[in-house]
Amino acid sequence: IPVESFDLVIFGGTGDLARRKILPALFRRFCAGQMDQQSRIIGAARSEHDSAEFRDFVAQAIGEFNTGHSYTQEELSGFVERIDYVQIDALGTDGWEELARLTSSERTRAFYFSVAPALFGALAERLHKYGLSDDATRIVVEKPFGRDEASARALNAVLAEHFEESQIYRIDHYLGKETVQNLMAVRFGNMLFEPLWNAQYVDHIQITVAETVGVGGRGEYYDKSGAMRDMVQNHLMQLLCLIAMEPPAKFDHDAVRDEKLKVIRALDIPSVEDIVRGQYAATEDGEPSYLQDVNDPASTTESFIAMKVRISNWRWAGTPIYLRTGKKLKARTSEIAVVFKETPHSIFGPESGRHRNILTIRLQPNEGMDLGVTIKEPGPGGMRLVDVPLDMTFADALGPDADDVPDAYERLIMDVIRGNQTLFMRGDEVEAAWAWADPIIEAWEKNGVKPVPYDAYSTGPEDALMLMHRDGRRWREIKV
Ligand code: BG6
Repeated sequence: IPVESFDLVIFGGTGDLARRKILPALFRRFCAGQMDQQSRIIGAARSEHDSAEFRDFVAQAIGEFNTGHSYTQEELSGFVERIDYVQIDALGTDGWEELARLTSSERTRAFYFSVAPALFGALAERLHKYGLSDDATRIVVEKPFGRDEASARALNAVLAEHFEESQIYRIDHYLGKETVQNLMAVRFGNMLFEPLWNAQYVDHIQITVAETVGVGGRGEYYDKSGAMRDMVQNHLMQLLCLIAMEPPAKFDHDAVRDEKLKVIRALDIPSVEDIVRGQYAATEDGEPSYLQDVNDPASTTESFIAMKVRISNWRWAGTPIYLRTGKKLKARTSEIAVVFKETPHSIFGPESGRHRNILTIRLQPNEGMDLGVTIKEPGPGGMRLVDVPLDMTFADALGPDADDVPDAYERLIMDVIRGNQTLFMRGDEVEAAWAWADPIIEAWEKNGVKPVPYDAYSTGPEDALMLMHRDGRRWREIKV
């Protein structure tokens, strides 16, 4: 789909996010024909470079991070020709007039704040002062959006001094993932599921986002956040909202976000007993423990969390949602499982066992869904029942093109250019998510709750298994 001409300025253009995600994503959209002749990308940062040096940096970033997408040298040189660099002082005056010269109000202007949140205010103010902004200008901000409700409110207030909510795009890259959007298509595009999507038929829901990486070089940031702030308050919360929300009246930015907000506001604060926190231990062959990775033997930050969450509303009362995420787990896999209740009465007798339908939505890898159905075990041995998956791996069902879906950043950046905010977080949503997370974190701090160690590349601490077992349930296996 063609998009209008745009100028995209990346503040923090030489940073890690630009290198790994933003620039490769823009390149792929360029190759897909979504960047016309007039459109420009401008890297803006503190360091001294000229545009030629920055273009080399971009070409290198693409060489390194644009895996899985083949391209020609012509495409690469065509792309870097559209790129300029401005050395800018976010807190001063240098570079701003030059930036104003390079951008034009005749094109859609978007400014990506890929910098520390402490600079948001200064950038927003200068965009106005130097005439870089009008009503059609968009700004893009990344997580972490605050570290509690008060700081998120303060950031929202700073941005609101210069921009309307309709101009602010808060990225949660999980919302850009193909299968996450598919979640909405599955729920609201089919008659089959929605009538059963409530506490009467659903026993519980599990959301797992497991990673194999440790905190490695990000220790300094991570140790101030932990899994709760880094993953649960944002990514898992977004998944929870999409799985639990009421059907919006239309697929429109405010209709969808209104419904998500209602879910967040209906969440109970889990008690300390409903939460398990862990830290990965060192491996026998010498991989460092979490405490070694963050260089603080006394750190009480969690690299793993599992929790039981209740949504106090009509639809979900009595159906818990279990969330789990962690670093250095057994496999990199993210999935949502909706576990339905057993049939109210088994006509096959107790020997046929207990059976439940489970709808599993796999976010990564092997994006797809399967629905476990109970059938008769083949053979003459009487009426024995067995659960088999009705499998739908998207790549199998839709052919090779299904694998060629844009990655989250490609989709989200293009949505900014198109002016579609549906997959971005609204200010009140972020604040509400913090308002839920804050008392949980405060309770740990107040009671001195420490994470328990878990074996690296395991499924997490034993206690996390117990969280389910004590309710007569169990986690799905963490496997690819
Ligand atoms: C980021 C977190 O937001 O998401 C990281 O800061 C995490 O700690 C990452 O590794 C996971 O994203 P993905 O897309 O690889 O699942």
